[in-house]
Amino acid sequence: MSASSVRRDPGYLGLTAPVETLPAAYYFDPAHYQRELSQVWYRNWIYICRSSEMAEPRSFRTLEIGDQSLFAVRGEDGTVRAFHNTCRHRGAALCRTAAGRFPAAGIVCSYHAWRYNLRGQLLQASSRQPGDGFDVRDYPLYGLPAFEWNGFVFASLTPDPPPFAASLDLPPERLDNWELGKLVVGHRMSKTIQCNWKVFWENYNECLHCPGVHPRLAQLVPLFGRALLEQRDDPSWQDHAQDDDPQYVGGLRRGAQSWTMDGRPVGALFPKLTAEERQAGHFYLTCLPSVFLAAHIDYVRVVRLRPLGPELTEMSIEFLFLPETLADPARDIRSAIEFTDAVMSEDAAICELNQRGLHALPHAAGVLMPEEYVVRQFQDWVRAQLSRT
Ligand code: FES
Ligand SMILES: [Fe+2]
Repeated sequence: MSASSVRRDPGYLGLTAPVETLPAAYYFDPAHYQRELSQVWYRNWIYICRSSEMAEPRSFRTLEIGDQSLFAVRGEDGTVRAFHNTCRHRGAALCRTAAGRFPAAGIVCSYHAWRYNLRGQLLQASSRQPGDGFDVRDYPLYGLPAFEWNGFVFASLTPDPPPFAASLDLPPERLDNWELGKLVVGHRMSKTIQCNWKVFWENYNECLHCPGVHPRLAQLVPLFGRALLEQRDDPSWQDHAQDDDPQYVGGLRRGAQSWTMDGRPVGALFPKLTAEERQAGHFYLTCLPSVFLAAHIDYVRVVRLRPLGPELTEMSIEFLFLPETLADPARDIRSAIEFTDAVMSEDAAICELNQRGLHALPHAAGVLMPEEYVVRQFQDWVRAQLSRT
């Protein structure tokens, strides 16, 4: 296209020149994968579980990322705390299971029975006569930052993670009207995807693939059917600036209200949503690198990622509803789950295809198209994470 024929309306969001992607080796090289674990996964907030999964005092959840294992435990005071899953004696793992509840005696190591309280303080070492100068106060568990936000437990493997609000792509208050803390899990699903964790996020960050990969979603969200995420991804978006057709302004096709097989909501509607929030049909909040929320008018999807290897990623999805939705036997949530399962399976399959091609000997890097400006933001974020000291 000649320069004179290029038209870009003011406010156009897309890239204006081709941009090189991250190096292909970043997606499969084992040494680079370790670097990303250290620089990205061990240094940010990681979603652990819903608070309801560890509601009782003394209940715990463990999480394994790379070669690290941590656990979060609810104290007798109701506060959630997190620790490395490691005994201070000779380093045995303390929790053997993914979830459970410690006995009233506290956290007792299976190896030589060192015992800690739920604040991580060592109460008792096993030796009859610890050596001179031994002080239990010198051997607390390795503590980690943890907190709860709207019924979500987060922890970090670094003592100084970034402020939580800075880890989100939007202010956390933006989802206040969904009252996330009140919502309950109505369904869970999990898939193992044969791709690097970044392949998943890059796919999440563009809709250039939507018309070809997601025929049903492309119908439900007509703007996605045009391979666009936002109205202003179209260089000549002003041609339809006054048009309220969803294919130009976004939102769901006329007559549809939620991400379900037939577009009808399956659950009771969140009562505090504004007209604009209901109209949008979906709203996203992302906390890199471990989780994003997709909020609809009657349910919220929580999609969590966990790297299992350079070319293997676990995706787990939780579906949150109002309690009355799940208590009402007349409600059938399957249509929401079926729809999501279809879309996420399409994404998983295309991510695996993406991964398979990346090894080609001459393929040093790819190139981003204008619609992939959010992929570029993501890749810049990865570069910044890798370069920080
Ligand atoms: S390693 Fe835990 S008590 Fe020995
Ligand atoms: Fe997709």
